[in-house]
Amino acid sequence: MTEKQITTTSEAQIAVHWGEEQYYYPSYEFVAQANMTDPEIYNRFSLENFPNCFKEYADLLDWDQYWTNILDTSDAPCWKWFTGGKINASYNCIDRHLAENKNKTAIHFVPEPLNEKTEHITYQELYVRVNEFTALLQDFCGLKAGDRVTLHMPMVAELPIAMLACARLGVIHSQVFGGFSGRACADRIVDSDSHILITMDTYFRNGKLIDHKQNADVACELAEKDGKKIDKVLVWQRYPGKASSKTPMIENRDFFVNDILKDYYGARVAPVPMPAEAPLFLMYTSGTTGKPKGCQHSTGGYLAYVAGTSKFIQDIHPEDTYWCMADIGWITGHSYIVYGPLALCASTVVYEGVPTFPDAGRAWQIAQDLDVNIFHTAPTTIRALRKIGPDEPAKYNYNFKHMTTVGEPIEPEVWRWYHEVVGKGKAIIVDTWWQTETGGFLCSTLPGISPMKPGSAGPGLPGIHPVIYDDDGNVLPAGVGKAGNICIQNPWPGGFQTIWGDRQRYVDTYYSRYNKDPDSKDWRDWPYLAGDAAVEAEDGYYRILGRIDDLINVSGHRLGTKEIESAAMSVPEVAEAAVVPVSHEIKGKEPDLYIALRPGLTGDSEQAQIISDAICREIGKIAKPRNVWIVPDMPKTRSGKIMRRVLGAISNNTDIGNVMTLANPDIVEDIKSIVSK
Ligand code: PRX
Repeated sequence: MTEKQITTTSEAQIAVHWGEEQYYYPSYEFVAQANMTDPEIYNRFSLENFPNCFKEYADLLDWDQYWTNILDTSDAPCWKWFTGGKINASYNCIDRHLAENKNKTAIHFVPEPLNEKTEHITYQELYVRVNEFTALLQDFCGLKAGDRVTLHMPMVAELPIAMLACARLGVIHSQVFGGFSGRACADRIVDSDSHILITMDTYFRNGKLIDHKQNADVACELAEKDGKKIDKVLVWQRYPGKASSKTPMIENRDFFVNDILKDYYGARVAPVPMPAEAPLFLMYTSGTTGKPKGCQHSTGGYLAYVAGTSKFIQDIHPEDTYWCMADIGWITGHSYIVYGPLALCASTVVYEGVPTFPDAGRAWQIAQDLDVNIFHTAPTTIRALRKIGPDEPAKYNYNFKHMTTVGEPIEPEVWRWYHEVVGKGKAIIVDTWWQTETGGFLCSTLPGISPMKPGSAGPGLPGIHPVIYDDDGNVLPAGVGKAGNICIQNPWPGGFQTIWGDRQRYVDTYYSRYNKDPDSKDWRDWPYLAGDAAVEAEDGYYRILGRIDDLINVSGHRLGTKEIESAAMSVPEVAEAAVVPVSHEIKGKEPDLYIALRPGLTGDSEQAQIISDAICREIGKIAKPRNVWIVPDMPKTRSGKIMRRVLGAISNNTDIGNVMTLANPDIVEDIKSIVSK
């Protein structure tokens, strides 16, 4: 192939080498109890019936004032859903359940230490605790609707309590993932212009009591340097009444919630009816460049969408015990630990710690003890649990009817372990593709209707109409075997409204690429660019290949990193695989492959050869990795995603940049020494 051909190959024209996987069908028992079994739903939510179809989701909620206009496009592409309506999210997640379910557990809080008891917070108790904290926010902090508050909380029940208290007043919460640094917290305080910070003194992670209060001090100091002064820091105590952090409290700035809360015992605050389009929260997410983007989510549209998708995709019934093992500091936790399940009056589990503490059986032990029947986690966790405890699930007597995977493409091998071993061959799986920006799921099978296909998310959800474009804006139809840029043709109620304080960046990043007319007020002219590469199979199922930037162009063939990784994972000894592009004079790029083996196994050159051969066999010689590096572990973000950027820098001998936000920064040196040998 000549160089000319390489450069003129369309970036979206990825030849997809993946083989098709077989279908798995939901069991009769599952279908018999499923919330949605009528395939007509796809017709009700067809493009012809858009946007009125979403009335069905809005009607899952209680409105203070019913809306008049389902979709206002006057400020396209900043969509406003259910305008004219007034609603309160806290009321919908708590108050409306009291009449019939006040004694039901809303939140099971599971502390990490084994010697601490699980706390079962009923809806009535949640009501009391949220009201008291709302009164504190209102009277002690002077907060009112529209103000922003930054939360930097670990995984404890006080986190949803604080979120719901903000929502009760119409205060916009911005929860920063608890594992993030004081610096990251400061950046988000500054961007959102918050004057109140809510935190906790300590929490448990992997058997250690972490002093978290010190991050608040760093955050306040750095925010002040950037011109934003925090007036009050509210510090929850991990052990109420006891100071467990060594970091001193700063007078007139830091307050123990426990001390102040005493003044508000018994207080009740009426939920403030908020316009449907009022922001409910900000969720920051990193872009490829520049500062984090504050994704602004609405009250009415967001809540309707997460309630609807929790009901139909998560199949949540009020009697279910639902455990999403994500962190509430990510969108998954906001939508599918807090707002969706509580809007449906389910019992939701909040687990403080890591799923492998003190051993690989912990997750299954919790599932057994709480009789969890809906389980939700990410491929990275599934891989980790498979790596260290492949036979653990069989030892526990839990009974999942439904399992979710989210956040990354899942390799078919890993999917099958999830299905056969974790789900005991019975539980259905939904592979949910979506993003911080989208508020809720975009692609997934409907569990009571569609068969599952390992490695494929599935079709667009009812009311979500994906389309794949090549770089020139041509549609790549189903079954052509080429991948391109996946877009959503229509707005949906859960979509973010804008990037906080930066409408231009919102338009540029997500809409300008395929926009047909920048002045248009017609939603049809504004396809949403998700930034992921995907391929649509003949059956309309989408397989997500990863971020557009993660693709590797080898001699003009764009290979999805995921398809190479999946091929590597077909070797039984492989626990995790990550591919990064390395520059090559002729081929453009070559894949470099990093492998972590299952525990107890040490790799040698023979093992590396087996893996390399497997890739050539499954995909073709074109994908043959330059090197197969067998490493002790992958560099990972706090949310468990493999940091391919770091591996890429090691492979290309370029600047690795800051690695302190990694969950395991020390691994970087270990990997470097392996690669430089
Ligand atoms: O690349 C896609 C991948 O994760 C990105 C969104 O990440 P984040 O905003 O952190 O949200 C994660 C939780 C929704 C997407 O652009 N992704 C998410 N879910 C899947 C996925 N890739 C493949 N399959 C999925 N099910």
